[in-house]
Amino acid sequence: MRARAQRAIAECRQIAFMTEEPGHITRRFLTAPMHPVHAHLRARMEALGMTVQVDAAGNLRGLWQPGGATGKRLLLGSHLDTVPQGGAFDGVLGVTLALEWVGLAQDFQLPLPIEVIAFSEEEGVRFGVPFLGSRAVAGRFDANLLALADADGVTVEAAIRAFGLDPGQIDLAKFDPSSAAFVEIHIEQGPVLEAENLRVAAVTAIAGQTRLSVTFAGQANHAGTTPMHLRRDALAAAAEWIGAVEKTAQTTGGLMATVGKLSVEPNAGNVVPGTVQASLDVRHVHDGARLAAVEELLAKATEIAARRRLTLKHTEQLNQPAVPMDERLTAFLEDAIDGAGFQRKSMPCGAGHDAMVMSGSLPATMLLLRSPGGVSHHPGETVLQEDVEACLHVGREFLLRMARNIG
Ligand code: HGY
Ligand code: MN
Ligand code: MN
Repeated sequence: MRARAQRAIAECRQIAFMTEEPGHITRRFLTAPMHPVHAHLRARMEALGMTVQVDAAGNLRGLWQPGGATGKRLLLGSHLDTVPQGGAFDGVLGVTLALEWVGLAQDFQLPLPIEVIAFSEEEGVRFGVPFLGSRAVAGRFDANLLALADADGVTVEAAIRAFGLDPGQIDLAKFDPSSAAFVEIHIEQGPVLEAENLRVAAVTAIAGQTRLSVTFAGQANHAGTTPMHLRRDALAAAAEWIGAVEKTAQTTGGLMATVGKLSVEPNAGNVVPGTVQASLDVRHVHDGARLAAVEELLAKATEIAARRRLTLKHTEQLNQPAVPMDERLTAFLEDAIDGAGFQRKSMPCGAGHDAMVMSGSLPATMLLLRSPGGVSHHPGETVLQEDVEACLHVGREFLLRMARNIG
């Protein structure tokens, strides 16, 4: 198991060099560095005897079909894209570990077909809307998504074509009807397992997310001549609102609310800011609490804009309800954690994952492993080799159970 864990980690570190920004890990949907990532993983899949294809949404998929096996297929996977200047393990480790699980299934000669899916997009960074890869596999890719444009005006459709794929074939990316379940292995991206001194946990539910773009429009003007009381400063308004967003989340149990992105126009030191576009990311495990918070935060933005004689517009990019993981599959995973000699642990998950989308179409669950320092979406993101080994021990137990129970 040690050699497998070392390889799963080393591959993440190697793939981290395949980036849009040298010196940082930045890899958005179907940008150029995704080609060497696919080439690397394709070679790994082929060496494992898997049949490999890239579907029209840019997901790299390897199928291990053991000789004579006729039963149902287990799907494993996670994503290959990253946030800007992200870490080496968010998503990618779920792919390299899935390939090690295939190796374990082969060692034990399990009659279990396994498809590993390396999703092309999960973060929503390039086009503002996440899960482009898993939506296609789940059979829930809305054709309107093809028209979304990135900051350079390149559409999803054009990005798919530029990668050498045919967006007209996205329907064919849907999971094979013989698929029985989806499991995603992922770093926790938070501090809970470390605080409890645990290596791994099964996931019970994934928090819902809303993502919005909010635009404050005022009047750009001269910074030296425009009296303070006559200004319509969009950035000052946005700043007031961002403070209110933070306060609301600090005082509402379980609520996470983040303004992570601002674009300021004209963005010059000697000009009163005329327009600010701000992102808003709101999460809660209870959908009612999330939706109420979104309403409250938009009302606050409207009030601030009106008081400052600005206009306000917003567009919703994501309204993803919280999703429970499949109870039976999660119980198998908890049993596998126990069977591998680790403390049984399950927990809800605040980060978004492809498993959210897949769970709308197939029974799905997740295995989380400890994130040292609770750090993620940051270059400091790391893993402990012993925790990666734990995922392999759990994997062996889980696959043995799955081979007995699906088919
Ligand atoms: O934003 C998220 O929760 C995830 O990491 N994509
Ligand atoms: Mn992420
Ligand atoms: Mn992720």
